[in-house]
Amino acid sequence: MTPSDKEGKITFPLRRVTEGNVSFFIPDTPEVETDFVKTPVFYNPQMKLNRDISVVAVQVFQEEKQRPIRFCEPLTGCGVRGIRIALEVQEIQDVYLNDKNVSAYKLTAENIRVNKLQEKVKVSTEDANFFLDKHASSGDRFDVIDIDPFGTPVAILDSAVRALKKKESLLCVTATDMAPLCGVYPEACFRKYGGYPLKTKYCHEIAVRLLSGCIIRIAARFSIGTKVRFVHSTDHYIRVYVEADHGDTKADASLEKLGFLLHCFSCGHRELVKGITTLFVHLCPKCSSSLSVGGPLFVSQLFDKSFCIGMKVEAEKRQLGEKKRRMMRLLNRIIEEADGPPLYYDIHSLCDELSIQVPKIEHVMSYLEKDGYKVTRTHFKPTAVRTNAGIEDLKDILLSLHQ
Ligand SMILES: C[S@@+](CC[C@H](N)C(=O)[O-])C[C@H]1O[C@@H](n2cnc3c(N)ncnc32)[C@H](O)[C@@H]1O
Ligand SMILES: [Zn+2]
Repeated sequence: MTPSDKEGKITFPLRRVTEGNVSFFIPDTPEVETDFVKTPVFYNPQMKLNRDISVVAVQVFQEEKQRPIRFCEPLTGCGVRGIRIALEVQEIQDVYLNDKNVSAYKLTAENIRVNKLQEKVKVSTEDANFFLDKHASSGDRFDVIDIDPFGTPVAILDSAVRALKKKESLLCVTATDMAPLCGVYPEACFRKYGGYPLKTKYCHEIAVRLLSGCIIRIAARFSIGTKVRFVHSTDHYIRVYVEADHGDTKADASLEKLGFLLHCFSCGHRELVKGITTLFVHLCPKCSSSLSVGGPLFVSQLFDKSFCIGMKVEAEKRQLGEKKRRMMRLLNRIIEEADGPPLYYDIHSLCDELSIQVPKIEHVMSYLEKDGYKVTRTHFKPTAVRTNAGIEDLKDILLSLHQ
């Protein structure tokens, strides 16, 4: 690319739109909202909720750490996410945006200019790995890196963790390649994420645990310890927020939160086992069928409840437009499930299997509680519950509710 390619005018028609506090330009071409490959620059209005959550999470993180934030988005599209962070989060020191697509670079530069943010927000057009590697040394690193790719983020996770500040930084990662992560293409999942998925009714939780496990292992290679602070599964993607902190001991402690998933496809029994050198029991403790093994993956708590509550408090203060109700519902449900047992059960598919009518989920929950079990709903699936009841007890309750 010559300097004049970079400096040349935008050659496609533009349309001005608003999201959050930001007014910005997107391509005014027929395919902008339908064909993300053909559009000159990517913008997906459906991902507003994803960006709203980022804004709130970065604000909570900033308040927790009490320091100005250097934010980076190496795959920025039209720049809306980074520009929103600059305008909607307090104590942002600077924002670095980047996209290898020259049209995205030009449009982002224009969006920075119309929002009068030239001092605070910088944009470049390089390959994301090259860009992040240039920021991998002391003084150049970031407090927050947000990776929001088409498909899988794995190709830039190594350089992203190296470009994080050594003390208490935040990595926010989207993955949209749900077919491998949910077990449709297990080999592709193992190749990319280093863990095997299982095609179950709770595959979205497995997907989040596989992505988290992958980030934990990559960070540990660079002596970085990681804590999963927040995750969500929404529409066609999953997203994880992981805090990173340098140190061999911390990296070792994070690796201890890896393990395997054991699932029985005969009776539905499932469990997480901690440890990579676990000696497997190969037969289901409930029905003696062979167990299937998923992972390695992250087997510990998916949510830091105080972080989730902070996000809810922060979201309540904001005008988030028509997506606000959905966001509040999501955060409330996540707070409810934050301390809940892992590996939810889908009540609808269990009832299908038992050939019975689906009872009200509230009835199932009160029966489980009456029998002394913990039970919560989950944002992962409206028809599912988290409970420490075993599969047999849960099925017994469903059958008794049917009579
Ligand atoms: C899903 S879009 C980003 C959307 C944006 N994060 C948002 O919230 O609107 C992914 C972007 O990554 C860019 N991209 C893909 N591969 C890249 C690479 N290797 N280096 C830099 N940019 C890349 C694409 O041009 C595209 O604009
Ligand atoms: Zn079994």
